[in-house]
This record gives sequence, structure tokens and C-alpha cells, in this order.
Amino acid sequence: MTKPLLDVLTGKRQTIPPIWLMRQAGRYLPEYRVLRQKTGNFLDLCLDPKLAAEVTLQPIRRFGFDAAILFSDILVVPYALGQNVAFTAADGPRLDAIDNAKSLHKLRRELDHERLTPVYETIVRVSSQLPAGVTLLGFCGAPWTLATYMIAGAGTPDQIPAREFAYRAPEAFGELLDILVDASASYLIRQFEAGVDAVQIFDTWAGILPDDEFDRCCVEPCARIIAAVCAQIPTAKFIGFPRGAGSRLKRYIDAVPVDAVGLDWTIDLAFAHNELQRRKPVQGNLDPVVLLVGGRSLDRSIDRIMENFKAGPFIFNLGHGVLPDTPVAHVEQLVARVRASA
Ligand code: CP3
Repeated sequence: MTKPLLDVLTGKRQTIPPIWLMRQAGRYLPEYRVLRQKTGNFLDLCLDPKLAAEVTLQPIRRFGFDAAILFSDILVVPYALGQNVAFTAADGPRLDAIDNAKSLHKLRRELDHERLTPVYETIVRVSSQLPAGVTLLGFCGAPWTLATYMIAGAGTPDQIPAREFAYRAPEAFGELLDILVDASASYLIRQFEAGVDAVQIFDTWAGILPDDEFDRCCVEPCARIIAAVCAQIPTAKFIGFPRGAGSRLKRYIDAVPVDAVGLDWTIDLAFAHNELQRRKPVQGNLDPVVLLVGGRSLDRSIDRIMENFKAGPFIFNLGHGVLPDTPVAHVEQLVARVRASA
């Protein structure tokens, strides 16, 4: 049986677009909350193959999505480079900040794959249980987005610590990006070897980069990761998601050899169709807030996106992750409408 989402990644339009959602496994699902209560630390959940596989499959069972995304987190890479990473219930991730060249030199140069063995085991487990036709997606964070958390030691509204570090210490910053390019490539190679069909590279904070840093921090590192993975696995498939890149998405798809590009909800739809989808398959881009709200606003937004992208290769998704308070019924409404509107 063919996999509709993989077909889109080879440029083949599907009559009914495949659909999956970023953060489709998570707190909006009652079955996730039940399981989450039994596991203390979020990182422990990510590194427990049995539980992580179960969480990965929860949204597939409930909604019949066309793709399962490995349940893990982008911050397992800094963890496997020896940085302390913890997730606090109240304020998200906490890391030992890399705020100078000295703390940078405490990082390992290469990933400790032993720390990531549970992730590869999760992939093996999920792929043996996945219904035919469902694509298994792996992922990693892009070097710039990882660097924003590694340098600040936490999430920040504007990524000022990382931007400041990049200007003040361009060499050390370049060294960090190099380490993350190599680490991410070897991480993705292992994910493909364990059984993922394709991977998504999340560059959540690409949009905050000034124009003259966009190539160095987003485009070049992502292109180097793909080149390194393809040198080992020539058939590897990639979805790039440089959130907030706006008109710079044109440069991104020209220079980064992704098979599809993810769009956030702010993009001009006519631009996305004419300048992007005519050249590459696209994925997106429903506002997670309208999914939270539901009702007729949700129907209208879905229809507008379908109308805009249905003539070409397209994967339906949100423009960013599902919000924790989203009612399950709204996700059911979304899946039914997308599948009925073809
Ligand atoms: O369903 C999926 O999409 C797969 C799992 C997944 C998670 N994180 C689970 C998670 C994926 C693909 C990610 C990626 C991720 N993690 C990104 C890039 C995409 C994006 O959302 O921008 C980033 C920036 C992170 C870092 C991260 N992880 C933050 C900032 C937080 C705290 C904020 C929050 O939502 O809680 C996390 C924690 C996290 N990662 C949770 C989940 C389900 C919530 C933790 C919990 O359940 O207690």
C-alpha cells in the first residue's frame, strides 16, 4: 500500500490531501493526560520507548491521521551533547545556559547516541504497529532554534540571548552551529535507519532572524544537514518548517533541498500558492487558535486553505502546534471537513 503523505513528498498531488497536526500528541488529548500523570518528568516520558510509542499512536487511533510523528522533543539533542536539560511544569524547558566560549567547550563534539537509544527503539516499536498507509515522521530542531534554547537556557519571547551571542561572539556561535549540524545529521540518519519514512526540521524561531543572518543561521545549516543525511541515505525525505520566514521562504526553498515546506498561519496565501507551491509541495497552515475556537470560523478557515492549495501537492496541517485547551471535537470536525471537501 502506498502512503499518501510520502506521495505528496515526491510531488504527487492527492485528491484528498493527507493530514496530520504538529503537536498532535499532547495535553489536549485526555488519554495523553492520563498517561502523563503517571510519568513524573517529561524527559523520562520521551526516553521511555514503550510509553513514547503509545503516545505517538494515540492520535492515530483516535483521528486516523495520515502521519504519526515520533513522540520526543527537539531538546533531546542538547541533552545527548551533555547539556543539562529539564522540563518544568510551570515554565517549560530549563538548560544550563551556554553564555560564553567556556561553557561552549563543555559540550560534547559528538552526540552520545547511547542517550538516544530509547528514541530509536520508540521508532522501531511504532513502525511495527502503524496501520498501512500511515507515514512515520521523525524530526529534529534546526540548529538556530536549538541554539536559542541552549544559549538562553530557557524559552524566551524574542531570542535576545542567542541573537546577542551571535553578534558578540560570531566564531563561538559558528562553532555551536557546526556542532549542531553534525549532531542533527547523525541523529536523523539513525532515525531513518530505525524506520522513519521522512523527517521534519523545525526552525521555530527562523522568523526572528534579521535578513543578513537568515542565510548563515537558517538556510546554510539546514542545507548542510540534508546534504550529510542524503550522503548516507539518498532516499531520505525532508519537510522544512522555517516558521515566520515569510517572503524569505522563496530563498529557503531555492537553497535548502527539502521535499516540502511547512507554512505558518501568517503567510499570504496567494504568495504561498504562486511562489512556493508551484515549485514545491507545501504543508500547513491553519491557525491553531481557530482550531481552539471551532464553529463556523473553523469551517471558513479550512475552506479557504483547501481552496488555495487543493490544485497542487499539499499536506494539511496547522501553522504551529495544537494548543493544550483545544477540544477534541474540533479536531474531529477538522479531519472530517478536510476529507469531505476534496
Ligand atoms: O506531537 C508532536 O508534534 C510530537 C512531539 C513534539 C513535542 N515537542 C512534544 C512536547 C515535537 C515535534 C516537539 C518539538 C519542539 N519542542 C519544538 C519545535 C516545534 C514548536 O512547537 O515550536 C520546540 C521549540 C520544543 C521545545 C519545547 N518542548 C518547549 C518550549 C516546551 C514547553 C512548552 C510546552 O508546550 O509545554 C516543550 C515541552 C513539550 N514538548 C510538551 C510536548 C507534548 C509538553 C510537555 C508536557 O506534556 O508536560
